[in-house]
Amino acid sequence: MASKGLNSNLSDAKNSRQDEFYTQLPDIEREMKHYRKHFKGKTVYLNCDDPRGSQFFHYFSYNFEKLGLKKLIASCYKSQDVDLFSQKDAEQAVYLEYEGDRDGDRIPGPDEIEVKQFAGDGDFRSSESIALLKQADIVVTNPPFSLFREYVAQLIEYEKKFIIVGPKGAVTYKEIFPLVRDNKLWVGYGFQSGNAFFKTMHPTDYAKGVYDKERDLVKFRNVTWYTNLDIAKRHEEMVLFKPFSEERYPALQD
Ligand SMILES: C[S@@+](CC[C@H](N)C(=O)[O-])C[C@H]1O[C@@H](n2cnc3c(N)ncnc32)[C@H](O)[C@@H]1O
Repeated sequence: MASKGLNSNLSDAKNSRQDEFYTQLPDIEREMKHYRKHFKGKTVYLNCDDPRGSQFFHYFSYNFEKLGLKKLIASCYKSQDVDLFSQKDAEQAVYLEYEGDRDGDRIPGPDEIEVKQFAGDGDFRSSESIALLKQADIVVTNPPFSLFREYVAQLIEYEKKFIIVGPKGAVTYKEIFPLVRDNKLWVGYGFQSGNAFFKTMHPTDYAKGVYDKERDLVKFRNVTWYTNLDIAKRHEEMVLFKPFSEERYPALQD
């Protein structure tokens, strides 16, 4: 039987609504370093992140002072499955607020992190989550790809800055393309060599060669970072290596 291509993994995940794959800390660090100046004095909201296991939460809580953050909020969606982080009793969705180190050890300790219960399931579209969204300046996460269109539409509706992971193919979605065209969303720096490694609860769903057994991670080549924050990459001059030719690039006729 032919093995599945790398790019089919994402559509498998999408089709099966299996949105449970978890971003790795080195990938988060590699992307976030380009946005440092944007975080000073800001509230960051991770709205699809179980703070008990999210590497986004780890990154922003441990770098809270370095980035000069004002506040960090993370919320999780009620577990639909046995959860990755062995919180099998995590029936209730929770959110968490962190306002920085208080005891001077530069470690976000349990007494410094306020854990609160949602009445509902923590859906990013719920009124409870939207109330947190309204407090936020910048939303950062890897959202469920099966809801990517809705997820982005909400960020645009509430005029939030964002840095999110999404399928590369999203630029062709009829809801997303106009945002690219109108300079409301663009691609970030992307994953190293285009390889995004994720932890998943269902590694056997993925084709051999894509699941790295040793690291217990799956590799996607068709995901990238999207943002609406200004980054140096947007101002780099494009290196042109061929002279313009009208024959090669004919203009569209009316
Ligand atoms: C691709 S995973 C990424 C998790 C985490 N952000 C990370 O990068 O490690 C998407 C997460 O969104 C959660 N999720 C699914 N539907 C959601 C919804 N309607 N509202 C909020 N979160 C949702 C899933 O439970 C899952 O943990």
